[in-house]
This record gives sequence, C-alpha cells and structure tokens, in this order.
Amino acid sequence: MNILVVDDEKLIRWSLKERLSREGHVITEAEDGKAALEAFNRETPDLVLLDMKLPDTDGLSILRAIQKASQDGPEIPVIVITAYSTVDTAVEAMKLGAFDYVAKPFNMDELAITVKRALETSSLKRDVRAHVSERRSTFGVHNLVGKSKAMRDVVELVRRVSQSGASTVLVRGESGTGKDVIAKAIHYESGRSEKPFMNITCTALQDTLLESELFGHERGSFTDAKMQKKGLFELANGGTLFLDEIGDMSPTLQSKVLRALEEKAFRRIGGTVDIKVDVRVIAATNKDLEKGIAEGRFREDLYYRLNIITILVPPLRAKKEDVPLLVGHFLKRFSEEFRKESRELTKEAMDKLMSYDWPGNVRELKNAIERAVLLGQGATIGADDLVLGRPGPATTGEEGARLLKLPSKGIVLEELEKDLVMQALERTAGNQTRAADLLGITRDQIRYRMEKFGLMKGEEAQR
Ligand SMILES: Nc1ncnc2c1ncn2[C@@H]1O[C@H](COP(=O)(O)OP(=O)(O)OP(=O)(O)O)[C@@H](O)[C@H]1O
Ligand SMILES: [Mg+2]
Repeated sequence: MNILVVDDEKLIRWSLKERLSREGHVITEAEDGKAALEAFNRETPDLVLLDMKLPDTDGLSILRAIQKASQDGPEIPVIVITAYSTVDTAVEAMKLGAFDYVAKPFNMDELAITVKRALETSSLKRDVRAHVSERRSTFGVHNLVGKSKAMRDVVELVRRVSQSGASTVLVRGESGTGKDVIAKAIHYESGRSEKPFMNITCTALQDTLLESELFGHERGSFTDAKMQKKGLFELANGGTLFLDEIGDMSPTLQSKVLRALEEKAFRRIGGTVDIKVDVRVIAATNKDLEKGIAEGRFREDLYYRLNIITILVPPLRAKKEDVPLLVGHFLKRFSEEFRKESRELTKEAMDKLMSYDWPGNVRELKNAIERAVLLGQGATIGADDLVLGRPGPATTGEEGARLLKLPSKGIVLEELEKDLVMQALERTAGNQTRAADLLGITRDQIRYRMEKFGLMKGEEAQR
C-alpha cells in the first residue's frame, strides 16, 4: 500500500519508513503542510500518517484539506500523531473523522498494528460500497420497466418514498404486478441501502413461528427455544423489513406488528426489555384489505397505519402499452441467460400478447417469454411458441378434472411435495426464484420447504 508520512522530524519519518517498508508498504515523505498536500494530490495514498504539529500550518487544517480533496473518491484513512500535551487536538481530529491517533513517543509495533487495522477497515468499507452499488444496479428503480403513465407514476412515487423519512409503506397490486421488485427498489434507492433488506412471506409460516421470526425469542421461552434468537425486526435495524402478503397475517400478530411500528421498539418472545430499532417496514398484499376489515380478519388500526403511503401497482391489462417494452426486456434477459441467439416476435405473436388480458400480470408475461426463448425453434418467436394462461388440467374422461390421480394405495403427501420441490430445483439448476415460479409459490415459501426437507446447502441454510 501507498502510505504518506507527514512529519517535520526527519528521524521520525525515517523510522516510520524503515518499519512500514518492512511490511511491504511504499512510503512517501513530506516535512510540512505544503509538501503534504502536494504529495497527497500527486500520489493519492491509501493511508496518511499526519503529525499535528507542522512548521508551516497546523495538522487539523491539513486533515480538513485531505478530506475535502478525497470526498468524492474512496475514504482515505488518516492516523494523526500528537504530542502527549495536545490531547485536545487529537479529540478534535477524531471528530473530524481521523481513523485513530497515536501520541508521541509511540511504540512502532503498536503503530504498525493501527496502520494495518486502518487499511483493513477501509478495504472492507470499499468492498461494502462496491457490493451495494452492484446490488443497486441490479435492484434499483431503473429496473422497473415501463413507460406508461401508470408506471411512470409508480416509479416517481418509489423514488420519492425511498428518499423520504417514511417508516411504513404499503404496496398493493394483483399477483405478479411487481410488488417484490418495488419493495427492493425502495430499499436500494434509499439511504438505508448499506443496511440489510430482510423479507418474509407471512403466509409461509404458522403464527407462532412467524412471531418468533419477526421478533426473535429468548432462550427457553418455549420448548423449541434452545437458544436466544434475533428476529427480523432486529436484524433489519437501520434497513428495511419487507412483510409480504401482510393480508394473511393473523389479527393477534397484526396488533404486535402495529405496536412495533408505533413504538419503534418491541420485545423478543419471553423477553423483558424493549429493543429499540430503526426499521422501515414495507408491507405488500394482493388481498382486499377493506374486505378483510369488514370481515374482521384485518385490523383497522394497522390498516390506517400502513395506509399513510400506499403504492398501487396497476395490473398489466391496464398498461398494455408497456407489453412490447417488457417483451424486449425479457427477451434480452433470457437470451443472455440461456446463451441463445436473440430472436424477434412475429407480428401475430405480438398481437396475441397485446390482445390478452394477463391475469398473471408481468410474471405471466415473463414466464411465457422465458419458455419461448428456451424451447422455441426457428428464426422468430411465433404465436404458437407463446403459451398463455395456466396450463389447465387435462379434461378427458372421468378423472379429467383431476390434476394428478391418487394411487389406490395412497401416498405420503410430504414426500410428493419434497419430490416436486427437488424436481423444480433440478429443472432450474438450483435457481430458487424460478423453481418457486414453477411451483406457483414464492421464493420464501420454497426456501421454507427446502429448509424443512433438508435441501439447503451450507451457507444458504444460515438465513
Ligand atoms: N415493471 C417491471 N419491470 C420488470 N420486471 C417486472 C416488472 N414488474 C414485475 N416484474 C417481474 O415480474 C415478476 C413478478 O413480480 P413480483 O414477484 O414482484 O410480483 P408480486 O406483485 O410480488 O407478485 P405476488 O403477489 O404473487 O407476490 C418478477 O420476476 C419481476 O421481476
Ligand atoms: Mg410478491
């Protein structure tokens, strides 16, 4: 690494150079503030060791100048060197964002350790940043395809909500309209993007399990609670918690969620202390919540709390002008993914898509294109390559209305389920999202089953 050493005492510069070159670093020296800034701009070092007492100026102003010069790039850690008598300056430097300080006379080994720690920290920060910006380009708002007025309004709202201080957001729309994509976009466009995005599908679990997933539990709080466990509200701290299918949550749990939202605090199951968290909750549903309230299945108070900001995602049939754009988007994506030459749709094929009413919304369109890219042959994709609607059960003979025939000796339902999950995973080369699509369930639901059947591999199993 490239280290800039700023100190007016030659002997100190020499001994620092001696020691740090042994660790493989390249050292640039500067004896005063002017030389320091020149060297800094010339070399863009990975770390600066900065004496606070300089002949031409004070160290703090150099610290400020360095930070100003590097504010657009990666953060460059500065370790300040002070005399024992000037602790105030050290405190001031730390406030300004110095990584650490050492007081003269210092121990070389300790200093070398501080340098190592600073370099590791900044490289970790850089990794996190790179990771987040990669995630942002995968999940950010520009991934929402659509130029229709309805979609532009949604995108605009997503942008505004993500930048806002809103702590709850409700996303409503039919199945397959893009609620998941929108929730992720809100997270990755927001200031919370370096913190976790946690999600859970409220339908996938029974009540007690869901409660412990959300709030965690203390050791011994119920028979299976052998260890203390943190819940998603805690794990998502600083970030976003996505509660998918909130319409399916039981009223008891709804009131606990409401309390957590209002108090920004909750207790683990069996816990006695309040845990404070800062979490943005995005809830999604394709259910009619108003009807749920009328029938006593959905709590009105939670409804009003969630309803402060609602993003209504229109069904695809209401924004058909987006169909060609979406087709182009998925054609490109799947031909790249399956390494197929990209093909165009014939006019008949496009007409077929334009006159269809899309009960399964964008997901159905996506699946139709995926299938056509994978299985279609010839130079173009024709109308016959596009299979629309859920494949209905065969309607021949007595058993026609049945999807599968139950063998006379019966079956073990769990085994059949496990087998189907395995088949779906095999067919999609382990891609959980696509396997879930094949089974008509969500990714959370397939993950839940994979865990249940012991189909998770190593790291994946640890959530
Ligand atoms: N505007 C869009 N642009 C690009 N892709 C989209 C868009 N809307 C939806 N999709 C894609 O359609 C599929 C279904 O979207 P998503 O899973 O977000 O739907 P959903 O509303 O959450 O459905 P459900 O209610 O069944 O959970 C996803 O693969 C998503 O990538
Ligand atoms: Mg969804």
